[in-house]
Amino acid sequence: MISIQVCVGSSCHLKGAHDVVQAFKKQISAYKLDNEVFLTGAFCLGKCLDGVSIKIDDELVLGVQPDNVPEIFQNRVLDILGG
Ligand code: FES
Repeated sequence: MISIQVCVGSSCHLKGAHDVVQAFKKQISAYKLDNEVFLTGAFCLGKCLDGVSIKIDDELVLGVQPDNVPEIFQNRVLDILGG
């Protein structure tokens, strides 16, 4: 089980956190990982200037946008699950 927390604080919200959440949902269902990946919202992760900020388990990932979600998903999430 891996957790992905997407910051939904006001700054990240304005930068498209909602679309980032949708993009992760898409990846999760494309790979049928609904039981492996726990996707939630998070309060401000303290990196508002570099948002959208997310946390994959304990690792902070900044500058997340819908178009880099597939790459992040493959490089980090699938890697952790596969390893
Ligand atoms: S609002 Fe997302 S890091 Fe602050």
